[in-house]
Amino acid sequence: MNSDQPARQIGAIRRDHFKIFESRAYLNSCSQGALANEVRAAYDRYLDQLEEFGSLWETWVGVQEDVRGQIASLFSTQSDQVAVTTSASAAINAIASCFDFRNGPSKVLTTSLEFPTVGQIWHAQEINGAEIVHVPADPDHRLPAERIAAAIDNNTAIVSVTHVCYRNGAMNDIRAIVKAAHDRGVPVLVDAYQSTGAVPIDFEDLGADFLIGGVLKYMLGSPGLGFALVNDKALSEFIRTEFIPTTTGWFAARDIFSMDIYKYDPAKDARRFEAGTPNVPSMYAARAGLKFLLEVGVNNAWEVSSQLHDQLRSGVNELGGVCATPEHPGEHGPMLAVASVDEHALVNAMAQDNVVVSSRDGNIRISPHFYNNTQDVEMALASLAKNRHLLADR
Ligand SMILES: Cc1ncc(COP(=O)(O)O)c(C=O)c1O
Repeated sequence: MNSDQPARQIGAIRRDHFKIFESRAYLNSCSQGALANEVRAAYDRYLDQLEEFGSLWETWVGVQEDVRGQIASLFSTQSDQVAVTTSASAAINAIASCFDFRNGPSKVLTTSLEFPTVGQIWHAQEINGAEIVHVPADPDHRLPAERIAAAIDNNTAIVSVTHVCYRNGAMNDIRAIVKAAHDRGVPVLVDAYQSTGAVPIDFEDLGADFLIGGVLKYMLGSPGLGFALVNDKALSEFIRTEFIPTTTGWFAARDIFSMDIYKYDPAKDARRFEAGTPNVPSMYAARAGLKFLLEVGVNNAWEVSSQLHDQLRSGVNELGGVCATPEHPGEHGPMLAVASVDEHALVNAMAQDNVVVSSRDGNIRISPHFYNNTQDVEMALASLAKNRHLLADR
């Protein structure tokens, strides 16, 4: 199989590599991806090598470079634009630490759709003089790009926006936001955690200056590994400022093994956004998960999850339920959010029927990926029908 094969010929792609499907309809990739046998085996390999060889620093650096290259391939970019971090939060913190809010523009323009870590990290910068402005989304979580564009002014230091909202799967028009920001010389940071590995993204084409995410969800990896993509070309062309993090560490040094305690000499490429010893076990897992995902192809994954998303949506509509995710293609990611009168009770009731979903803000979140099939969707819909009293009415 390769990434050019149409998904419909493949069906639920390589589902037999994920043990969880023997017992459950796992539809919770927006929270955590399903564990592939290959990822489990990668953890074993890490431990086996430790037992046999003891310390393995050079091998580990090699694994990190493999992961860097795989992330670059996933986003059709080059390895030198990829920083491998221990979380998405670590990546955003390193980026936030580049700004001198007291002597330059002080406004951070963000939105009401952000994941908590994004809001919290920017608000932590208030101590350094940042002023945080949240552009509000509509009640249905749509956020017209023009509203963000209209809020950009000469005092805007950065626009920080989510690609796909973690609460209901609404997708923002990043290209339009980047265009508006770059016209004013303002950089854009995209939190793509809810789309990476699920929605095809070409980093150069997107045009954003920074894109952050992690491997835990649709990228098939484990906790403890995030990344930042850094578009130095766009930064030098449109922003014309050097972005040098002050949140740093020896893995961000130009020469990791120089062991110099007398100066700060960060790498020239995106590696300057890294910090300390990487999360090595998670890198082994990420390398196996990314290999798997790259073989499947994100285009194929997106085709499968889009079909399942539509099947879920029409089933919920037939039940008279309320979908809280915008309907039009281009306005949503893989997740379908469904309004509930008691979302925690509904998640638990579905778990009793061996259907795994999660909840946020009055909705349950059902998030298919390439390994799901129509039977999973039918199981979810049957459980929703059985628990119809827990769905909000249209
Ligand atoms: C959209 C989004 N951004 C950021 C994060 C936080 O990532 P991390 O815990 O790696 O910092 C998450 C985690 O669920 C997320 O869904």
